[in-house]
Amino acid sequence: MSLLKYETELTGQGAKIYGSECSQVICDIFDMIVRGLRKVAPVLLNISSTSQSCNLVMSRYCTTNLFTDQKQTQFYAKFRPHYTSEIYNTIVEFCKESHSDFDLAVDVGCGSGQSTIPLTEYFKKVIGVDVSENQIANAAQNAENVTFKVSHAENLDFIQSNTVDLVTVAQALHWLDLEKFFSEVFRLLKPGGSFVTYGYGLFKLEPEAADNVVQHFYGNVLGNYWPEGRKIVEEKYMSITLPFPGWRRNDSLAIVKECTIDEFIGYMGSWSALNEYAKANPDINLLDIVRERLETSLISQTNQKAIKVTWPVFMLMGHTPISR
Ligand SMILES: C[S@@+](CC[C@H](N)C(=O)[O-])C[C@H]1O[C@@H](n2cnc3c(N)ncnc32)[C@H](O)[C@@H]1O
Repeated sequence: MSLLKYETELTGQGAKIYGSECSQVICDIFDMIVRGLRKVAPVLLNISSTSQSCNLVMSRYCTTNLFTDQKQTQFYAKFRPHYTSEIYNTIVEFCKESHSDFDLAVDVGCGSGQSTIPLTEYFKKVIGVDVSENQIANAAQNAENVTFKVSHAENLDFIQSNTVDLVTVAQALHWLDLEKFFSEVFRLLKPGGSFVTYGYGLFKLEPEAADNVVQHFYGNVLGNYWPEGRKIVEEKYMSITLPFPGWRRNDSLAIVKECTIDEFIGYMGSWSALNEYAKANPDINLLDIVRERLETSLISQTNQKAIKVTWPVFMLMGHTPISR
């Protein structure tokens, strides 16, 4: 693990961190700085630095430290929304366009398998890959043709070159080192293989009273605790260009879920920002506060107990050329 340059600088404007190569050491130091600064002077912390090296540190920091907490990953497995059959029909139709063999699909950043298991219906073999051991530990192993592997997306050398029909990345592309990752994708995919990245943007709640409560916590209370990559998801990957000729987007789908207040609180418990907030404010139980506000707003203002949650779905898809 080489550490070429590392330097921190605290200015009146915020914290800047330079590093030409990130290591766990930097991530740990960064973690301490982030927590320390938040305690002393939250306004000093401007994580959205424009420095490229800072972004490098940030992205590696996010990759190695988010989605690792045991409680958060349990909430993730239980309460994250499930992707709809329309999404997988769209993926399958896209694979058919280039006459896929449907032999092998690899789902990268698979979390606890929400995006992996549905592929087992269509592909002879599916591999789910995630860097977080806890996410993989919570993955449902309820299909015979699926295996899960703890690994960095940027190094998939346990999979043979030219053997993969489909690579998917659901709600995780923004965490990856894209240059290294796409070089692996091109190594793995057969000619005419398919790549699909998809996810869901910022939810909308009905009734509006519930939306007002949750958007306040999402944006104002947790605002500083979201990692930088979150903005890319909120913008539905509009800033991302895929390295495949003729690639395209599909923004026509949505995930809709009716849930109780407790189920929605469970979903909030899977948010990385909530986990970071809890680390910085161990004496505050934010979920209890949100639950109370939701109950008050729903029951007293609308006399309703159920919440309807709608997430807009975005999909970006491309094929490798048939002949290379
Ligand atoms: C928001 S979750 C998405 C999980 C699942 N695909 C879904 O759609 O619900 C992002 C996942 O990406 C994983 N991840 C982040 N950086 C990674 C990397 N460099 N290599 C592999 N997995 C990574 C995280 O551990 C986390 O489980």
